[in-house]
Amino acid sequence: MNKEQIPFILIDENSDVPIYRQIYDSIRQLILHGKLQPKTQLPATRLLAKQLNVARMTIINAYEQLFAEGYLESKTGSGTFVAARLPEDFLNAEKPQKKQTETTNRTFKLSNFGDYLAHNGERILRPYNTQNILPFRHGIPAIDEFPFEIWSKILQKQLKSANSKIFSYGDIQGFPPLREAIANHLYQSRGVFCTAEQIIITNGTQQTLDLIGSVFLSKNDEICLEDPTYFGARDVFSAIGAKLIPVSVDKEGFELEEAKTKSRNPRLIYVTPSHQYPLGMTMSLARRMNLLEWARETESFIIEDDYDSEYRYAARPLASLQGLDRHGSVIYIGTFSKTVFPALRLGFLVAPKDLVEVFKTAKALRDWHSPQIDQAVLAEFISDGHFTKHLRKMRGIYQKRQQVLVEEAQKHLKGMLEILPATSGMHLIGWLPEGVDDWQIFQAARKENLQLTPISASCLEQKLRGGFFIGYTAFNEIQIKEGIKKLREILLANLS
Ligand SMILES: Cc1ncc(COP(=O)(O)O)c(C=O)c1O
Repeated sequence: MNKEQIPFILIDENSDVPIYRQIYDSIRQLILHGKLQPKTQLPATRLLAKQLNVARMTIINAYEQLFAEGYLESKTGSGTFVAARLPEDFLNAEKPQKKQTETTNRTFKLSNFGDYLAHNGERILRPYNTQNILPFRHGIPAIDEFPFEIWSKILQKQLKSANSKIFSYGDIQGFPPLREAIANHLYQSRGVFCTAEQIIITNGTQQTLDLIGSVFLSKNDEICLEDPTYFGARDVFSAIGAKLIPVSVDKEGFELEEAKTKSRNPRLIYVTPSHQYPLGMTMSLARRMNLLEWARETESFIIEDDYDSEYRYAARPLASLQGLDRHGSVIYIGTFSKTVFPALRLGFLVAPKDLVEVFKTAKALRDWHSPQIDQAVLAEFISDGHFTKHLRKMRGIYQKRQQVLVEEAQKHLKGMLEILPATSGMHLIGWLPEGVDDWQIFQAARKENLQLTPISASCLEQKLRGGFFIGYTAFNEIQIKEGIKKLREILLANLS
């Protein structure tokens, strides 16, 4: 190419795009498509300005942008050139199909943790991979009932507080007023005894479990879990390389005597005493006392996951296991995913005093601290009384929704799916007739846009009767009624 000409720069005088930007874009495209090869000399700014009939400053601006992005380079005394190595060589932004690195047949060595993830990714990600909320997905609150106008007023106020420290790095353990608010709330509503100094704010229970697992479990260390259990817990502890010890549940919850025969030296015991996940029984007082005693004897720690205990419809929620603990054996964990909204990604753990430092250090290494502006908004939302008010309202709504679900199921699913009411929680269990495989019906339901969770998916080694978690909190009465009709069709077609 003649160094005094650049081919095909078209300028549209009527465009909203500034002229310097149009020239920049044209030259960039010419370079990327090989019409201007690396090391090609470009016309001087004065000359190009004359050719294109624009001000010289316009060309200077376009060239400067191209210099800044690495498309052009200059050689003192001899002019402006297309760079010898182009930024897209690194960025791969243009024509990715041609430039993508070939990785299909590569082998590489991962850590034990990475290797576990590489082999179990599809199974682990399955529950997380959908943003759809269709009947009867469980564990999702009625987000449309959340008081977003209040939330956004508090947020606006926080954002306007120009001198506020909340925009800088914050307290690793969590925003102190939020920790205070949680400690007060937990004492009043859950009988948890703690000070704000024992609380560590996390990005939700999933991170809490990861922190606890990483701090306590080395490869093959034992952790006892209820069977069936929460898949988020099962997966995080398995990925760490721990040995999972499944323990059955009976009507009083975690079968302690079975645990004792299976594990002599557990490091951790993960339980959901307020509302067993997923079956829903409450751990009896006797079981709680004996479990605390066993933890003390074996010097293990109990993780008390109190994920949905705020939703009790009949009586006052049962006090926490942590509140009965006299030896610092319980790590109490909670989440705002069910009580505020899941996208908030805020949860917490209450550590015995001598564990605070190690959890704090683990949290700092993971992500320094949880997002502080959200923490500040939540702190005010709780301390101004909106949280308790919201919970009260949601208990009423959820109770009604559960009632509709049970009535509809009794009318339309008789003999096919037995759904019994419960006095707490966010889902019910629907039991299939004996011998029916819940996985097969789950697949059929999925094709019809129903989200059931098979009980078998939460079993470690138990072979329970087939059934589903039936979530009701995220669905209004019409959606529940329509969902049950659809479910009836699916069961009729598959139970013969
Ligand atoms: C047993 C249990 N714990 C905790 C959670 C909440 O997890 P996160 O705080 O990570 O949203 C859930 C959510 O489904 C759960 O079922």
